[in-house]
Parts: sequence; C-alpha cells; structure tokens
Amino acid sequence: MSPHAIILILCLGVGVALVGIAIVMPALLRTCLAVKAGSDAAQDWRGRVQLRYQNLRTYHWMFVRFKLRRDPMFLELPDLVQAAANVRTILDVGCGYGVAGCAMLEWFPQAAIYAMDPDTARVGVAASAFGERGQVVQAGAPHIVVPGFPPHFDLILMLDVIHYISDAEFKLTLERICDRLDAGGRLVLRAVIPPSGLGSKLWNLEQIRQRIIGLRAYYRTVDQICQRMVETGLKVSCAKCSGGNPESYWFVAQAESSTGIGQGAMPSGQLAAQAQNQEHD
Ligand SMILES: C[S@@+](CC[C@H](N)C(=O)[O-])C[C@H]1O[C@@H](n2cnc3c(N)ncnc32)[C@H](O)[C@@H]1O
Repeated sequence: MSPHAIILILCLGVGVALVGIAIVMPALLRTCLAVKAGSDAAQDWRGRVQLRYQNLRTYHWMFVRFKLRRDPMFLELPDLVQAAANVRTILDVGCGYGVAGCAMLEWFPQAAIYAMDPDTARVGVAASAFGERGQVVQAGAPHIVVPGFPPHFDLILMLDVIHYISDAEFKLTLERICDRLDAGGRLVLRAVIPPSGLGSKLWNLEQIRQRIIGLRAYYRTVDQICQRMVETGLKVSCAKCSGGNPESYWFVAQAESSTGIGQGAMPSGQLAAQAQNQEHD
C-alpha cells in the first residue's frame, strides 16, 4: 500500500471517530436519556433540574445527570435546608454549574437564587439553568458582597468550596456571611476534610489532579471549621459526614443573634466529637 493510501485511511479513521464523538454519541445519548417534557420523569424534581440543562452542551447536561444520581448531597440537602422555612432568597457561593441551586429552585418554588463563581464558563451555564429566577456573577469568596444582590439571605450555600480559600479569606467570608444571614436564616456548608490515613482513591486522584494543575488547596479539620465558625459569631447546629464518607462533612450554622434551631447549639469541639461518634456507630 502506498504512503498516500495509508495517510488517507488514517485521516478517514480519525474523521469517522470525530464525527462519532461530536455528533453521533450526543444524539444517541439525547435519544436514550433525555427527559421528555410532560413525562413522569419531568414531574420529579430531579427530572425538572435535568430539563434546565437539556438545551445546553451535552457535556454539561450529562455532568448534571451524573451528579444528581451519584452525589449524596441531593439525598442529604433536603433535611439540612428544610427547617429554614419560607426560603425566598438564597446565596450560593461557588455555585459551579448551579446544580444545587437548581434543586433549591425546585424545592422552594417561591425562592430566587443569587450565585457566584470565579469560573466564567460555570457562571454562563448556571445563569442559563437558573433562568429568570437567578442572578449569577463572576466573583469568588471572600468577595461575596455584590451590588444588586439583596443585603440579607434566608439561606447561604457554600458547597465543596472552602479548600480554595486561605484561612484569612475563610475568616472574612464567614464574617460577611454572618452579616448577611437573616434571623432564622442559615449557612449550609459542605467541606472536604483531609483523611487521617492514606485517604480514599478519590482523595488521592484529586491530589494528583491538583499537583498537575498547580492548585494549592487549604484543607481544614472538622474542629478547625467549627471553631472558625464559632469565633465568627455563628452557632453551629450540625456537623456530620456526607454519604458516610469521613472526607466530606456538612456544617449548618446560624448567626448568633438569630432565633431558631441554632439556639443552644453545642460548642464546636463537642459537635465535632459527636460527629466522629456517629461515624463509628
Ligand atoms: C467542587 S466545585 C463545587 C461547585 C458547587 N458548589 C457544587 O457543589 O456543585 C468548586 C467550585 O468552587 C469554585 N471556586 C474556586 N474558588 C472559589 C472562590 N474563591 N470563591 C467561590 N468559589 C470558588 C470553582 O470555580 C468551582 O466551581
């Protein structure tokens, strides 16, 4: 076979593979997995969240579909936010593609969401998914005070974000959050916790990824996070692990001056100890 023929066959092969990846695969996925408006799936909140992303790029839509099914966040968040009754204004700091924010919009039909993320692409996706019920800006903690956003919120979310910010930035962010929580409003924060031993596969893969992209992460223990919250004037009412995974923890807190379930909350050390015991039960 002549060299020209080999090059032609190679080019054809690559061309067919690219068409498959770029056109056939997305079309197949959409035919098989898309939520049809008016179907039973579209009555469920998960289906409605997926519908918000279905007209966006296949990657984003598939990411959302996967996250909704695999992240224990969506089984646990309803309990953590439900006592924050009458939620109308939500701030999501580090909203990513806005999946948790969209779940909030489905769970609290009267609510509006205000969100931020430093990543332009994520801001665009989240803004499209929220539609008229949301505002998203390109910003990041500790710069959470945004002109045009309400001065107070019923619920503030900060999910898997705090390892991106230094101790000084975390302190300043918590102070600003404290100032912006309405009476009875709450902060719901999930954080990545460093393992005491070798860590899970996911932890180790994430460490490799961070090394490759040169990202510096600021991990904190459960006690350090609780302590920082209490020092800032937040009452921590819950610290428990997410999805049975000691590398991921929930924290729920309210402003010290507010009323509600945070009243009589335990000191940070006690909360952390209780959380560790639950883990071993
Ligand atoms: C692991 S993702 C979590 C996204 C979203 N909260 C969720 O739970 O799906 C972390 C997000 O934090 C964002 N981020 C990085 N630095 C940040 C900062 N200083 N303030 C707010 N968000 C930040 C990243 O761009 C990314 O979207």
